[in-house]
Order: sequence, then C-alpha cells, then structure tokens
Amino acid sequence: MTADSPTPSLAHLLTLEGLPRAQLEALLDRAAHYADGHDDRAVLAGTAVCTLFFEPSTRTRLSFQLAAQRLGADVLNFDVSTSSTRKGETARDTLRTIEAMGVRGFIIRHQDDGAVAALAEAAAPGTALVNAGDGRSAHPTQGLLDMLTLRQAKGADFSGLKVLIVGDVKHSRVARSDLHALHALGTGEVRVCGPRALLPDDATLDGCTVSQDLDAALEGVDAIMMLRLQRERMDEGLVASIDEYHRDYGLDARRLARARPDALVMHPGPINRGIEITDEVADGPQSLVLRQVSNGVAARMAVLEALLGGGPARS
Ligand code: CP
Repeated sequence: MTADSPTPSLAHLLTLEGLPRAQLEALLDRAAHYADGHDDRAVLAGTAVCTLFFEPSTRTRLSFQLAAQRLGADVLNFDVSTSSTRKGETARDTLRTIEAMGVRGFIIRHQDDGAVAALAEAAAPGTALVNAGDGRSAHPTQGLLDMLTLRQAKGADFSGLKVLIVGDVKHSRVARSDLHALHALGTGEVRVCGPRALLPDDATLDGCTVSQDLDAALEGVDAIMMLRLQRERMDEGLVASIDEYHRDYGLDARRLARARPDALVMHPGPINRGIEITDEVADGPQSLVLRQVSNGVAARMAVLEALLGGGPARS
C-alpha cells in the first residue's frame, strides 16, 4: 500500500490500544498525504456525519468538522446545550435518533470512560463511531496527530528516539493514546515524569522509564510532550499548589536547554500558560503546538476515510 491509496477500513476507532502497527502506519501515511494539501471531496460525498460532544472542545471538534467537509461529507454539529438531552434523552437514544436520519458517522466526546465504546455497541451495523475523547481513557485521533507531527520532524523510524511525557498522566486520555502509539511504533525510549500523585499506578506506564525529577528526565530527549493539568477530573487537593507544580514540573527555557538542542516541544492544548509551560517555550522556535493543530485536520481526514470511505471489507 502507498500513501496514495486509502487505509484498510475500520468499523470504529475507539482506542489505539491493540491497533496493529501496520494499520497505524497506514493511517499515518494517509494522514501525511492529506497534510501535503490533498483534498478529495468525492471520498465522503453523500455521507452525513455528526459531531456529538458532551464535553467542551475547540481543536478536536472543529478539525473533525473541517476534515469531514474536505472529504465532501455533510456535517451536523450536535449542540448538547440546546438538545433534548436537556429533557432527559439518553446518549444512546440521541445516537439512534440521529442515526435514523441517515447519519453514518459519529464523532463523540464524553466525560465517562467507556461511554463511546458502549454507544458503539448500540449503533446499527454500518454506522461508524470515532472516540473524540472519553474520560481519562483514550483520545486516539490526538495520538495519531501527535505521531504524525513527530514523524514529520524526526522521520518514520522511531527506534532511535527518546520521547518524554510530562505532567498529569493519571487523568490524561491524550497520554494513554500517545503511549499506545509510541510503543506500537517501536520508540527507542519512552520517559514519563510527573508528581507521584499524578502518575497512574496501573499498567499504563509499563515499558516506560518513570521519574519525578524533570531536570534529569529532560537530559538528551528528542521530544517533550507536555500535558495539561486535568483539574476537572481531579479530586480536590491532589495538587496542593499550582506554584509548586510550576516550579517542579513547568517547562521553561532553562529546563528545555537540558534536552537535545533540536528537541521538539509538543502540547495537545488547551495550554495553561504559566503552569505547565511558559509563554517563551510555548511560542518558541522548538514548539510544534500549532503544527499539531494543523495536523489534526489531516489525521482526522485519514480516520474518516478509513471508517466511511468504503474500500475493502470493514474489520
Ligand atoms: N487536544 C484537544 O483535545 O483539544 P480540545 O479539547 O480543544 O478538542
């Protein structure tokens, strides 16, 4: 398969966990093709998709809308605040209702872990769901766009790369999807650094080098993926002081100098400026934050094409 041919199709995209490396690489090849500026409005012409977001979003929702439009789809944007969910309609009934209008693709964000997978069970055959972030579990298209961004800067062979993820991994669906993808793509070393209270104590960090010392963890890394403090998912008091968090885990220019001189700085957004990253670093020459955003459109085009663009039998 080449980047000029569509990726083998999927039924849904709920997680990157367990996605075969070949499928991941095929999606990234296709995302790179779209990132080069190729639009094809015939791919989803006559197909209707709906963004169904039960949590706030700027990047994911708008980039999915643009991605679907660039492939020729009709796009419905469900507004939860003015919908009949306010009268007690369940997410499942909402999905089935919109599905009955002929919508074939749903891009869903939900505050509960596993909610999108549960809705996939309720969907009719032929309806495709994308997890646009569920609780702290998974954000697979963020993982894809992050891998695309790394690949563009460092090449497709990750075996020599040292990648550091910093901050609130415990509550981060982005970190989980990035970890699944980094391991699947054979990354040389994956380091994780954060306060003990914000690191998961389950199998999430298997295969990673874990530390609480950011200055040491930064030594010689090729890429640094900063995370937002997910305060909306935290128990009260988990982070005693924002000033202390910034002192110990904030990325500033002095700390960044410990990494390789060409190290990349990434952040999924939205950024808490002055907490996990300084303005100087977020807006500096090593920052790929806005490249991540533009790659989000391309990565999501590749996903929508694989889910809804036809082609070989769906898996
Ligand atoms: N990175 C990310 O998911 O951003 P939004 O919440 O703005 O979609």
